[in-house]
Amino acid sequence: MFYYKNLDINEKGNLTFNKADTVLLAKKYQTPLYVMDEDMIRENCRIYKKALDKFYDKRGLALYASKAFSCKEIYRIVASEGLGCDVVSGGELYTALEAGFDPEKIYFHGNNKTKQELIFALEKGVGHIVLDGFYDLEVISEICEEKNIVANVSVRIKPGIDAHTHDAVMTGQIDSKFGVALETGEAKEFLLTAIKKKNINLRGVHCHLGSQIFDLEPFEEAARRLLNLMIEIRNETGYIIEELNLGGGFGIKYTEKDDPIEYASYIESVSKTVKNICNRNDFPLPFILMEPGRSIVAPCGITLYTVGSVKKIPGIRTYVSVDGGMADNPRYALYNAEYEAVIANKAKEPKSQIVTIAGRCCESGDLIGENIKIQKAESGDIMAVLSTGAYNYSMASHYNRLPNPPVVMIKDGEDRVIVKGETYEDIVKNDI
Ligand code: LLP
Repeated sequence: MFYYKNLDINEKGNLTFNKADTVLLAKKYQTPLYVMDEDMIRENCRIYKKALDKFYDKRGLALYASKAFSCKEIYRIVASEGLGCDVVSGGELYTALEAGFDPEKIYFHGNNKTKQELIFALEKGVGHIVLDGFYDLEVISEICEEKNIVANVSVRIKPGIDAHTHDAVMTGQIDSKFGVALETGEAKEFLLTAIKKKNINLRGVHCHLGSQIFDLEPFEEAARRLLNLMIEIRNETGYIIEELNLGGGFGIKYTEKDDPIEYASYIESVSKTVKNICNRNDFPLPFILMEPGRSIVAPCGITLYTVGSVKKIPGIRTYVSVDGGMADNPRYALYNAEYEAVIANKAKEPKSQIVTIAGRCCESGDLIGENIKIQKAESGDIMAVLSTGAYNYSMASHYNRLPNPPVVMIKDGEDRVIVKGETYEDIVKNDI
């Protein structure tokens, strides 16, 4: 009935999430409310860790791509599961460090990092800086020279692969703001330049093809192309690039249409590809990194709302409005992202209506979804939108001065607040 095993229906007919009654949660904390499932987050971390250990002989590390959901508690959780993390801004880095994350296991990404951010990262001992291009290389070399230090770096390469995903989240192709291009020779030139820099220790190559990808093939092809480049560099200069980072992007099931691959099988096949190529070319097995974000947290989150106005426009559609919307979940407005929704207090009833779920912002595009099948919705009902654990809280805005909702974490049925909800005072606290 549900795609994920953390969802169920209790004897009252209410939707439960990791054993917690969602209707009671809505009552206790008010809505809108983000709810996360710690047990499933941990399980997902373990899937990656175990598969890397099993298929790649413990020579790999999964980095949680923290842009998917960033707050102190998630860094503590993934760290305790043995993962590293990827951050893309001073803010994410600061949060990770505040949570006690080991800086050695942090990879700092970004297509336009500021000099201040790079200084901050280096001063804090961040283990790896993923350079996005020649500009980054210049800035980091300058800082390292000034401070007389050496930085461990890798470079983001666009391998020229179309990963068949939404245009807005596709990043492996040549027309992308991220990285240096493989097919034009830019990537090779970058590596040759970086190797010669005195204060730079070139450790790895990286690519990220996009997000919500359902095929294995693009990942295998990316591994092949990057490895071939590593081998070419070795053949020409003798320099061994030790790390191969294949990014994130593993899809999850939001609706019936989505058919994700098993993450372990992805790791198995990529490991085989890498081992084969290395064998054939007498190249030392690289350390492998991957950067799952969505697949670690998306199914581990739901959002609870209260239904307000229900507006039937005869012959056109029914708008069911909730007390949140694009400010807490902008993904339909941005990508037409589809979600499943359930009336939590009527979870046992059949989904008898097709509706448009509207938010409360002054914006016609403020929708959570269209053509959504749901139980009969009436004002006062609690609506749960499913699989909102990734790119919802982290993409929330204050549009219309809506305070950000709290985040409640559930562990074995027990709830606790991990991010407090904002108040009106919070909204004006920086206003002069
Ligand atoms: N590594 C890098 C370098 C990335 O840029 C990303 C995502 C990831 C890893 C993690 O990808 P994931 O496993 O989560 O697919 N806001 C969009 C998604 C943007 C993804 C940005 N980069 C959305 O809501 O669909």
